[in-house]
Amino acid sequence: MAKLVVFDHPLIKHKITRLRDKNVDSKLFRELVNELASLMVYEVTREMPVLDVEVETPLTRCKGHVISGDSIAVVPVLRAGLGMMDGIMNVIPMARVGHIGLYRCPETLKPVEYYCKLPEPLDEKFVILADPMLATGFSAAAAIDLLKAKGAKKIVFACILAAPEGVQALTDLHPDVDIYTAAYDEKLNEHGYIIPGLGDAGDRIFGTK
Ligand code: URA
Repeated sequence: MAKLVVFDHPLIKHKITRLRDKNVDSKLFRELVNELASLMVYEVTREMPVLDVEVETPLTRCKGHVISGDSIAVVPVLRAGLGMMDGIMNVIPMARVGHIGLYRCPETLKPVEYYCKLPEPLDEKFVILADPMLATGFSAAAAIDLLKAKGAKKIVFACILAAPEGVQALTDLHPDVDIYTAAYDEKLNEHGYIIPGLGDAGDRIFGTK
């Protein structure tokens, strides 16, 4: 069964509160999203594989562990997921990066793929799927469908805000994918926005509104 991790740390609570403020401009909004993503990476990557190595200190030899770039992939969902990338890559710069682009079909309201470029092979990689807002969960579920179709076996999902509806949908559709969120909000409104939320994450990251 999927694990839901809601961060409970003063630094994360502080940054989330700043992020929600409608008067925060795009520059600060981007910085906050990246800082949150960096702070979350420590917990999100807790189960990622390490290689056993020997290292020579100035005094002796000892056993240690390193992370191979080949064993970890970070995949932002376009476009808002890009807003978390600098923060994640600052902490795990060796990771490979893929991209998934999805748009919502106006007739069916279902996510449709328009771009997919992933590091290969994916089957042995620890895959972090990043999208700041887990709202209905349909885009995240569709992105995970794609990752699994390309061979991914170990996937975790990292977001900044999650709605109960999105968590429910994602755990129903992909019970093997753990969800990490900086905050867990109340509900979705009739337009699919998270309440209290922070508005449209993509627009606020890129200043498009
Ligand atoms: N996507 C957003 O950017 N904001 C929401 O509240 C829901 C989905």
